[in-house]
Amino acid sequence: EMKDNTIIIVLGASGDLAKKKTFPALFALFRQGFLPTDVKICGYARTKMDAANFHSRAVSYIKNPGEDPAVTASIQKFKDILTYVDGSYDDGAAFVVLNTHLEEIESKYTSKDNEADGIEKNRLFYFALPPSVFVPVAKNLKENCYVKGAGVNRVIVEKPFGKDLDSARQLLSSLKEYWTEDETFRIDHYLGKEMVKNLLVLRFANVAFSSGWDKNHISNVQITFKEPFGTEGRGGYFDSFGIIRDVLQNHLLQVLSILTMERPVSFSAEDIRDEKVKVLRSIPPITQEDTLLGQYVGANGKPGYLEDDTVPRGSVCPTFAATTLWIHNPRWEGVPFILKAGKALNEAKVEVRVQFKDVTQGIFKDITRNELVIRIQPSEAVYLKVNTKTPGLQTRAMATEMDLTYNRRFSNAKIPEAYETLILDALLGDHSNFVRHDELDVAWKIFTPILHWIDGQSGTAPKPVPYAYGSRGPPELNAFVERFGFQRTTSGYEWPVTSLA
Ligand code: BG6
Repeated sequence: EMKDNTIIIVLGASGDLAKKKTFPALFALFRQGFLPTDVKICGYARTKMDAANFHSRAVSYIKNPGEDPAVTASIQKFKDILTYVDGSYDDGAAFVVLNTHLEEIESKYTSKDNEADGIEKNRLFYFALPPSVFVPVAKNLKENCYVKGAGVNRVIVEKPFGKDLDSARQLLSSLKEYWTEDETFRIDHYLGKEMVKNLLVLRFANVAFSSGWDKNHISNVQITFKEPFGTEGRGGYFDSFGIIRDVLQNHLLQVLSILTMERPVSFSAEDIRDEKVKVLRSIPPITQEDTLLGQYVGANGKPGYLEDDTVPRGSVCPTFAATTLWIHNPRWEGVPFILKAGKALNEAKVEVRVQFKDVTQGIFKDITRNELVIRIQPSEAVYLKVNTKTPGLQTRAMATEMDLTYNRRFSNAKIPEAYETLILDALLGDHSNFVRHDELDVAWKIFTPILHWIDGQSGTAPKPVPYAYGSRGPPELNAFVERFGFQRTTSGYEWPVTSLA
């Protein structure tokens, strides 16, 4: 349940994540009345700034295209609940100052009902921080800013959680010295996306889908992430991680686990996460043979990865990867799950494509396979590619679709940003859409061997194949997905994406 008497403390308040994601999400919740009554938001970072300077930074990414006066007024009200404290991340004394500031806010709380152990005080700490300071900040908060008595303390943290199994375990256990699992909310922002949340409903509220959801009916599954821009100045961070740690090991694997898990006993956080962990544990580590790595090169006036000044010369860091995962359980044995992600491709798109098996031949020949496409972004949609009789006098089958395109079907719905729903869940204490420690552990187990190979820890690092900026990916990709049974629709069928505009 939502707790009043809450302060949200944003650590790293002057950074990019806070500016682009955290504050806009907090504002959207505030504006819609989803934050606790009388909530205060306190920014903390090293930069020295006065209130006005902090306020203008915090609201700089809030969209108000039409300069709507109602939104402008809300922004003003939002500023009124924002305060700022500067200080370092490793100095306990600075956190004592922060705590004094928080206590000052709390001294104005008045007693509500049933508060036998005193007035309830709740603090939600949001880490919009680089991983190098996760542990000192976790420690300093616990030692200096942890409220005792009635109320709860919670922390929200986000990747990178280590670089491989060992470093992730080390980080998690260091954080656990200060914050319990129950107090910790690990964000994977893909779990906050509308269509990812919809997977549970699509799968388990529809007999029509759940009955064919197995190796007997499904040939192969692809989960695809495409971005139309390169690292562009973010190469320093990116180069030490690569596309697998950046997108596959977390975001795409999360989608995979919800797509393939067994039906949870309930919607409770532990029941859902138990099933996710169970299916992930049935996946052996990815092999080199099942992996295709790429790196973009300059094309069409756009610079190649190695031409980004923030990228080390001669880097062999993959900016594209396709890997195939196998699930050893009775439902999925033998079905390839292809995860693929790339930067600097021809379009922005994230989708799941479930390709069903061939229909029995005989009366049909060369007929298109059914495909269920779950389009996560942009423009959420679910469509099923089906064969139908060509309208008219002949009896011929043609490929078409049954289409649930959100902005047509739900034209007035506002789809929340991932961070909005996740911050709200953390305020409510709901862990369902956050990553449990054992989930992270098993995710790293699947990816660590291939990452060590890519990092050159077991000999020479493999060289990714080149692909042109703005292309569909490495030319080798078509053969790669075909090797795993994917069949491209031959009849010239295309989903009428233009109708989205
Ligand atoms: C982040 C990655 O986790 O996800 C970025 O670090 C990537 O490299 C981003 O661009 C994609 O998120 P979204 O919500 O834009 O799909």
